[in-house]
Amino acid sequence: MKNAIVEKKIRVGILFGGKSAEHEISLLSAKNLVESINRDTYEVVLIGIDKSGRWHKFELTGRMNNTIFSSQTPVSDPIAQLQSVDVVFSILHGSIGEDGAMQGLLKIAETPFVGAGVLGSAVGMDKDVMKRLLRDADIPVCRFRVVTISEEKNLNFQDITKELGSILFVKPANMGSSVGVNRAVDSESFERAVQDAFRYDRKIIIEEFIDGREIECSVLGNDEPIASLPGEVIPRSNFYSYHAKYIDEEGAQLDIPAKLPVDITKKIQALSIRVFRTLCCEGMARVDFFLKPDGMILANEINTLPGFTQVSMYPKLWEVSGVNASELSDHLIQLALERGERERQLATSYVPAI
Ligand SMILES: Nc1ncnc2c1ncn2[C@@H]1O[C@H](COP(=O)(O)OP(=O)(O)O)[C@@H](O)[C@H]1O
Ligand SMILES: [Mg+2]
Repeated sequence: MKNAIVEKKIRVGILFGGKSAEHEISLLSAKNLVESINRDTYEVVLIGIDKSGRWHKFELTGRMNNTIFSSQTPVSDPIAQLQSVDVVFSILHGSIGEDGAMQGLLKIAETPFVGAGVLGSAVGMDKDVMKRLLRDADIPVCRFRVVTISEEKNLNFQDITKELGSILFVKPANMGSSVGVNRAVDSESFERAVQDAFRYDRKIIIEEFIDGREIECSVLGNDEPIASLPGEVIPRSNFYSYHAKYIDEEGAQLDIPAKLPVDITKKIQALSIRVFRTLCCEGMARVDFFLKPDGMILANEINTLPGFTQVSMYPKLWEVSGVNASELSDHLIQLALERGERERQLATSYVPAI
């Protein structure tokens, strides 16, 4: 007879939705993620945040379909809700979910969570701080200049082009999904781009235009991170805009894996791990690069909370690298638990030297 002791399942809270512009993407990510989680090992608890910021707990009944998002009970105490599970897998894209704020709440709740901690999340979200850290680690990045709202009046297209070339990319420092990102080629488009970027942040970044292929790589792990095969994004228009990402299904072609020579693939994988470490990441991240025609590889950005939809690059790259969706969610949850355990073992007050 089989041993009658039934192992208690690990309760995983999937945190999704949120007030950001990527609310709908988050729903798709959550749905896909839930389907990938092995229910023999894990019990799934769905915690959704609606567009006005209210928290709800959802019932998970049978197979996933749209009904899971309708049967809900309000959550009056978010911290207690986070504490009611063993580990949280947050798939809240955009500011609050990605910039360290939610990670801070999870730390206060003392609930282990998937992905980067407070510092890694905050650093990865701020394109200015991120690029300065990469530059400091001798990882090639494009030339750029940061402008705060108080410096806006001194901005001049001609001066900037002398420094960064005749085509510029203007972005809010803290954003994502190409929101507020514009290409500028003359003083008129530059002025518009600057104004648009300042709608989203009080600090913007102006970059030189990089003529290169867009290559992305998935990273997984804590102390010993590994990199997937790289993928390529081929936008159909000028650049990989919000429209190309989320509105136009034909907006970009994804090549998974990217068609690259073996030596370039290896370089990109090694560089991804360096970027991941330099930016204090843990668990997972997607690292994005530009590959120039002369073979030079520049780091563009890190995404500490990549999409998990059916067509998202992060899980797709793992799939072609031999880690299927179910193995991936299992790895990520285990990495979160492992880190939680490690942190619990650290001394929290002074202990005399050994
Ligand atoms: N310096 C640059 N040179 C050329 N294209 C760029 C540059 N910066 C951004 N882009 C284009 O804009 C897109 C969005 O910019 P990115 O820095 O990745 O911001 P986000 O965090 O919003 O994704 C990129 O995927 C790329 O297509
Ligand atoms: Mg990007």
